[in-house]
Parts: sequence; C-alpha cells; structure tokens
Amino acid sequence: MSEIVITGGNRLCGELSVQGAKNSVLPVLAATVLCNGECVIHNCPKLSDVDTSLKILSHLGCRCKNENGTVITDGTSACNYDIPDTLMREMRSSVVFLGAMIGRTGRAVISSPGGCELGPRPIDLHLSSLEKMGVTVCEEHGYLNCIAEDGLKGAEITLNFPSVGATENIILAAVTAEGDTVIHGAAKEPEISDLADFLNRAGARINGCGSDTVRIQGVKSLNGTEHTIIPDRIVAATYMACAAITGGELILKNAMPPHMASVLWLFKETGCRVNISGKSIKIKAPSRLCRVPTVRSLVYPGFPTDAGPIATALLSKADGTSVFVENIFENRFRYVDELKRFGAKIKTEGKIAVIEGVDRLSAADCKSTDLRGGAAIVIAALAAVGESRIGEIHHIERGYDDITGNLAALGAQVKKE
Ligand code: UD1
Repeated sequence: MSEIVITGGNRLCGELSVQGAKNSVLPVLAATVLCNGECVIHNCPKLSDVDTSLKILSHLGCRCKNENGTVITDGTSACNYDIPDTLMREMRSSVVFLGAMIGRTGRAVISSPGGCELGPRPIDLHLSSLEKMGVTVCEEHGYLNCIAEDGLKGAEITLNFPSVGATENIILAAVTAEGDTVIHGAAKEPEISDLADFLNRAGARINGCGSDTVRIQGVKSLNGTEHTIIPDRIVAATYMACAAITGGELILKNAMPPHMASVLWLFKETGCRVNISGKSIKIKAPSRLCRVPTVRSLVYPGFPTDAGPIATALLSKADGTSVFVENIFENRFRYVDELKRFGAKIKTEGKIAVIEGVDRLSAADCKSTDLRGGAAIVIAALAAVGESRIGEIHHIERGYDDITGNLAALGAQVKKE
C-alpha cells in the first residue's frame, strides 16, 4: 500500500496549472456513449476515476484510448447495457452512466450504488425522474434493472433538491428522447454547464444550464465532437489552501475564477491577498491566518461541500475560532478525527464543526478517509512540524493528478512511498 510522506513546515511558493475537473470529465465521458463518431476530449486529468470510466466505456462496447490527457472515444458500436459490480464499487459516480446507457440502448443494469463515505447517498431523484421519462425500474438481488420499453419520452420534471447527479442523468437521458424535457429546480454547478456544452457541440439542444430551469429538445442522434474540460475548482482551492496554511505564495494558471467566488471569499476572509487576472489567481498568505466566523456549504454558487474539508483544515491553524456548517451531506466529518491527530482542536456535532485555531500542528501518521478528507489531511501535514505518513491514498488519487509532484514543485518536502 502506498503512502504519502510529508515533512511539514516548508513555505509553498511558485506557479501551478490547474488540472481538468473530475466532476466534469466523468459525466462527459459517460455522455460519449451517446455519440455516433469520434469524440476528442482534452484536458482530462490523470485520475483513477478516469481510468475506471474508460474501463466502463470499453465494457459498454465503445472504442477508447487516452493519449496524454486527451481521451478519444467512439460510442458508435456501444451495445452493452450493464456495468459490472466491480467497476460500480470502484467509483460511485458510475451512476452517471445510467442516463447515457438508457439513451443509447433503452436499458441499463447496475448494482445498487452502495458506500456511505459521506453518509447516505440515495439516487431516488435519479430514478423517479427516469420513471417520468418512461423507464421502468426494478430493484432485485442488489441490482437495478432499468428499461424504457417504448423508448425514452420527454417529460416535465421538478426536483425537490437540486441534485447534481440527478440533473446530469436527466440531461443524458433527455438529449435523444422523443420530445421535450424541462427540469425545474435543476442544479446550477459549472460542471453541468460543461456537460451541456459538450452535448450541444455533439448536436444536442439544451438551454438554460446555469439557471434552475433547463430545457432539452430531444434530437434523433448525436455525432462525434471535440471538447476541452473546464478547470477543477476544488483542486484549485486545495492548492490555494496548501499555500495559505504554509504562509506561502502561489500563482494558479488555467483556473476559472468566476466559478470560485465563494471559495475566493473564504481565502480573503482569512487575510490572504487574492488577485485575479483573467484565468490566473495569485494568492499570498498573511503572517497568521484569521478566523472566519461561519462558513456554510450550499448548492452552487454557494460554498461547495467538496471544499468543506479543505476549509476546516485551513482554519485549524487560524487565529481564533471558526464554524463550518455542512448542509449537503449528513456524515462528512470523518476526516476530523484524523486532523485531530495533528493537534487540531475541532469539535463536531451533527452538521456543525467548531474549529478552534491552534498556533502549531505537529506531524502524525494517519489515513485518508475519503477524497476531499484526504486532501484536508495533506494540507494539515504540510503545516505540521515533523514527518507525517498518510495512508489509504487511493482516495486522494481518485481526484488529484500527481499531487506529490505538484507539491514538490512548489517546495514541499513530500514523497510517495
Ligand atoms: C455532490 C455535490 C457536488 C459534488 C459531488 C461530489 C451539491 C449539491 N452536490 O453531488 O457539488 O461535486 O457531490 O462530492 O453540493 N440526494 C437525494 N436523492 C438523490 C440524489 C441526491 O436525496 O437522488 C441528496 C443527497 O443525499 C445529498 C444531496 O441530495 O444530501 C446532494 O446530492 P447530489 O447533488 O445529487 O450529490 P452529487 O451528485 O453526489
């Protein structure tokens, strides 16, 4: 089992280009199942979740290859409609293939997505929306058997929570359905707009992404196309936090500052100087980070739930007490016990974490609990005095492309063993 070994205390300084967004590339790769012809997807990060998506595409009958971050796929001959249980377990977000598989073949069989790394993650909204579009869903022996006997039909759908995954699945099912679909209460995350941009280039007719009403006019078929994945706003926030907690200075290139307003607000509140120039973000840490009275995760454009662990790690070394309120997932504080090993003073109750900033963190051996929780531990280790060893790093590698190489280039003492 690999570990990340960090000797903390170095100021992180330098320049870094932000990788493509994991939460964009996975739905876009799923969408290529619907395309007749070659799709060329640029700026794909090197992640285990991308590898898993390519395995799923191959299993479904798509041709695909990854050439240094450009994935080329062709869904013309996709004819399978199941995802093997082993691949479902590797990546919970394989549920986003559901809409694409039904759109392509009229059927989908997947194992019920288990796992509770962030608390319960139901897919009832995905399934009830697909049912409105003519899909019969049958759950037996741990499998979900979905079939659109008479083909997919456009529908008027109201989501009672703006679920990112459900919005994506509805869009994927609707683009080649018969008739029009309207999603009321849709999620507005930039990764959804990126998916729609890709699909529209392939011949789909989607309007309104980025607002809470999305309209999709079904078309007969989609063609191949070329697309570049947007920058990852959570990865950008992670590296900003690495610089901020070590008193450093960082220039992020190829970022998308308009997608990061709530995150940039947090860094400014902690006393960091943040300058934006086009696609670049410059951050300079103060001599001591300031506390931020309350940070709340909310749906976009609010503060992202995925940046919650990153904010908590950062504030653990601020001057004074901060509060983080997690409003999206029920059980997202498992990483807090690991942060406490570094001497962080954090108390959690329900959806609230009270973070009493300390002057000094000290090195610890710990395990990443989940993807962003793992990132939080890396942030703490960079600021901690002494050598920390971080286990279970497969979680981190699901979302961060070469994190040890990037941190080393910024001056961290870090290696993978
Ligand atoms: C969520 C985040 C997304 C992030 C992703 C990966 C939000 C709104 N979504 O997306 O930004 O990139 O995690 O960590 O912040 N829910 C149901 N039934 C459903 C679907 C969802 O009750 O069918 C509930 C979930 O339990 C959760 C909330 O809705 O409490 C958010 O779910 P959703 O947006 O679907 O989650 P993801 O798509 O995983």
